[in-house]
Amino acid sequence: MKFLELLNQTGLIAAHRGARSIAPENTLIALKRSLGKCDFIEIDVQLSQDGVAVIMHDDTLERTTNVNEIDVFKSRKPYRVCDFTVDELRTLDFGSWFYGDKNHKEPLLTLHDALEFIKENNIFLNIEIKDMQSCFRDEVVVETVVKEIKESDTHGLVLISSFRHEYLKIMKEKLPDVPTAALVEGKHPQKLLEYLRGLKVDAYNLNDELVDKESVEKLREAGFFVGVYTVNDAKRAKELFNMGVNCVFSDSLTKIGMGIL
Ligand code: G3P
Ligand code: MG
Repeated sequence: MKFLELLNQTGLIAAHRGARSIAPENTLIALKRSLGKCDFIEIDVQLSQDGVAVIMHDDTLERTTNVNEIDVFKSRKPYRVCDFTVDELRTLDFGSWFYGDKNHKEPLLTLHDALEFIKENNIFLNIEIKDMQSCFRDEVVVETVVKEIKESDTHGLVLISSFRHEYLKIMKEKLPDVPTAALVEGKHPQKLLEYLRGLKVDAYNLNDELVDKESVEKLREAGFFVGVYTVNDAKRAKELFNMGVNCVFSDSLTKIGMGIL
């Protein structure tokens, strides 16, 4: 099955940043621990200073690495991901902040390694491209992700999403067979259905606070997949599925994982 066909289903569970309630978000161990508990995994992608696609949520390294404990990086505040080369990022520890144990380290995850992982394990992956317009031209960001997908031959296993909708337009031109999702938070774009058709997206992923039954029905009738983030309560997940929502993104696969709802 391809990701595009998965978009016809409902009641789907996405592992938000991997199994982030039981492992450090956006690391290989978080992906491994999601297996068997979700229908697909969601990760966040951005570029290092030298243009390598790396898996990180925040624009800066402080929250999820040990960067502020490393003397040679002391002068590099505010520690933007896009100001560090991939070799520098590889020297950091992405695990001990989560485990509360300096000896329990996890390495950087690159998009290359994440794609190899999904191929080996035949699991679907939602690649969210973070808004990188303050560091890179849109074409450069999208082209880097496209190259990784092509090289790993994972077209059928991935969905691309972004809050920066410009990326989705470029992506559809470059890889028309890869599904895309417009991410929104806080308010719907004006003339929503028209807007989404203009972007040529397959899916609309919105934050839970923005969801209402009428909008979900309109979107589904118009043929769009609807995903909702972030849902960590089983009762709420069921309510959303009853409304017609296709998928929820959850941090807690032990509460909302497959076989639990
Ligand atoms: O793709 C859903 C969700 O990941 C979007 O928000 O900030 O957690 O990447 P964020
Ligand atoms: Mg995300």
